[in-house]
Amino acid sequence: MSSTIRKPLVIITRKLPDTVETRLRELFDAKLNVDDKPMTQADLIKAVKTADVLVPAVTDKINRATLAQAGPQLKLIANFGTGVDNIDLDTARNRNIIVTNTPGVLTEDTADMTMALVLAVPRRLAEGTAYLKENSTSWSGWSPTWMLGHRIYGKRLGIIGMGRIGAAVARRAKAFGLQIHYHNRRRVADELENELEATYWESLDQMLARMDIISVNCPHTPATYHLLSARRLKLLKPTSYIVNTARGEVIDENELARLVETESIAGAGLDVFEHEPAINPKLLASNRVVVLPHMGSATIEGRIDMGEKVIINIKTFLDGHAPPDRVFAAMF
Ligand code: 8YV
Repeated sequence: MSSTIRKPLVIITRKLPDTVETRLRELFDAKLNVDDKPMTQADLIKAVKTADVLVPAVTDKINRATLAQAGPQLKLIANFGTGVDNIDLDTARNRNIIVTNTPGVLTEDTADMTMALVLAVPRRLAEGTAYLKENSTSWSGWSPTWMLGHRIYGKRLGIIGMGRIGAAVARRAKAFGLQIHYHNRRRVADELENELEATYWESLDQMLARMDIISVNCPHTPATYHLLSARRLKLLKPTSYIVNTARGEVIDENELARLVETESIAGAGLDVFEHEPAINPKLLASNRVVVLPHMGSATIEGRIDMGEKVIINIKTFLDGHAPPDRVFAAMF
């Protein structure tokens, strides 16, 4: 009599592209979320009690309390996303749970969206669109002094976090004639600095006070929480703009909203928010703020590539090898 070998139970918390789900089903005992209803904390606890592998996303808080309930069979959390701030990494490591992410495949898409905001906010794209949609019949036509924005060419762009995405933003921005400045934990290699003709600022405070546009491209970690604190935000020039496609928690959102409301900065382009999905109403009310619902990596190609990475990480791990995108390199 032949006995059937149990396939590993992989619980995926959100709906993924069809091709990714089909492949997950072929390879594993995949428990999908076809309705895409976000899981509650109770659902997540149930999942970690039975899953061999959990595939969460940014909307799932895999915190200490949840991980405390994990069964001994949970050995891998294969995050569908590059940022891993939704997972309590210390607790995962202490419980010998490997965590993987999806780096690299969403770099270009996120950089495109960042650049779109860098262009859209000073040139008042959202205001122009809103005006025309509301006044299509009453618009009296072109005027030389109406809807004037600010020139992008020649301005100083200060990138916070010169990792993969930061560098991809810098390449695009350089092509648009912006001068590239950056702050990073470490100065990047000479080769990259030369390619970007970038100026390194060891002092974030000093850089902030001199930039025309700031782009936040660093991960959210305990060290970058409110990196743009109330004190630092006050250093910005009143003519400056902030773009954030990284994580809302890096900026003190209340203070940012206050600065926008009091016209102490010129505007903002925000794809991410500190208390997602909630957004500070002052930001929503301002016509100098472009808001997007966390769409930085939202392309079909990107989401399929992310799924592919998740599958490779799970498959490699279950085959007894070190998964390529381990967040703690030393573990396996
Ligand atoms: C993803 C992101 O859509 O990968 C990331 O870190 O911020 C997003 O672009 C999201 O995290 C998916 O979980």
